[in-house]
Formats: sequence, C-alpha cells, structure tokens
Amino acid sequence: MTDQIVLTTLTYSDEDHGTWSELYRRQWDRVQNIACQQWIAGMAKLALDPTRVPVAAEISARIEGMTGWTLGDAQNAYLGRTEWFEHLAERRFPVTNYIRRPHEIEFTPLPDLFHEYFGHLAFFTDQWFADTAEMFGKLYLATTDERQQVEIARLWWFTTEFGLIREAGEIKLYGAGLLSSPGELNFALLPETPRYQFDIRQVAQTESAVHSYHKGYFVLEDADQVRRILRDYARMEGLPDVTK
Ligand SMILES: [Fe+2]
Repeated sequence: MTDQIVLTTLTYSDEDHGTWSELYRRQWDRVQNIACQQWIAGMAKLALDPTRVPVAAEISARIEGMTGWTLGDAQNAYLGRTEWFEHLAERRFPVTNYIRRPHEIEFTPLPDLFHEYFGHLAFFTDQWFADTAEMFGKLYLATTDERQQVEIARLWWFTTEFGLIREAGEIKLYGAGLLSSPGELNFALLPETPRYQFDIRQVAQTESAVHSYHKGYFVLEDADQVRRILRDYARMEGLPDVTK
C-alpha cells in the first residue's frame, strides 16, 4: 500500500455547492455548542470554505503540512475493514468524492464527502490524534486473529465515529458520525439514551449499527484516553504496544 494515490477531483455543479453550503450551515448551527474542543480547534485550522465543496488535493496538502497525513481515494465504496486500517497505518485518510443529492440533505444512506470533511478531518490537523489514528492501523495489522481485528475496529468505531467525551462536566460530541449527522447527535444526548463509561471489553463486544441509530454510546473521560485504550487493549490481548 505504498503506491501514490491519485485523488480524482470531480467538477461539482452549482447544485452540489448549494448542497454543501446548506449542510455546512445547518450542521454548524447544530454542533457548535455541543462539539468537543478538539474538533472546534481543528475546524479553525482546517478552514473549510462553508460555501464550496472542498477540493481533495488542496485539503490533503493542507493536512499534510500540519500532521503528515494525506487523503486517500475511497473510490466511493465501503472499504473492506483490513483495507481501511492499511490506509490508517500509512497515515492516509480515505475520502469519497461523492456528495449527496439535494433531497438527501437530512439523510444519505451512503457516507458522503460531507461526513468525511466536516466530521473527520478537523481531528487530523492535531498531531496527537493523527499519530493515534496511525497506531490504530498498526495495531490492527499486528494481528491476523479475526476476533481481535473486529474488536479493534469496534474500538475505532465507538471512539472516532460515534464516541462522546466528557469536558468540564458536560458530555460533548467526539465521533465524526455524530458531528456530521443531523439526527443521531440529538438522540445520543437525550437524557434517556444509554451512555456508558468507555469500557474496552464492553465496546469490543458491541456491534456497530450502520442502518439505524446505536442503542447506546460510550463516553471518553478525556481525549488522551483514545491512546490509552490502544495500549490497554494490546496488553490485554498480548499484542505489541504500538503507542511507544
Ligand atoms: Fe466515518
């Protein structure tokens, strides 16, 4: 996986730019007071244009200058689990260039580029997070045991995709799937929605939901915990400590 990935840039229509603007405006309003600090700070550094669909090569160069990560081409498909972690181990974040149609503003069955740029990329401006994401890739590739691979993928999922985090006594959004979704973020914060302290064993046994909201969410105590999770899981499972 060391081949240079060529990012194909589509020509986007005015309608596409309009969809991006609408998504950006609505979602920023929804999350600005409930997003975690790391995301807020990262969004300022990422400096997406709220009115134009991002150009992959430009954003890739911007992130590379900050943390050494680049964007990869996800080819508008769900990547296989192993392929996904191979990208991470190479410090590459796969993105799609697909943007949803205007009638799908509230819901798109396929993750589109709004999810990736708005939800995920702010974190990759942060060296500590970027290094941790690479460690996820390395830990996954350190085992060929399918149970362990599934569990490592769940640890990734319930932190970076659907995690919550405690900040100054309040629960904030951490996962990109929550930060970029209009509906699930509210559900995740409802008083009656089950929320648990992040417990490695419990998370390892929890299936991810792709076509519905999750039944419960896991709350990180602080941003550094993501790396402790990797170290502790490796110790519990006799895998190499990739956090050194
Ligand atoms: Fe994602």
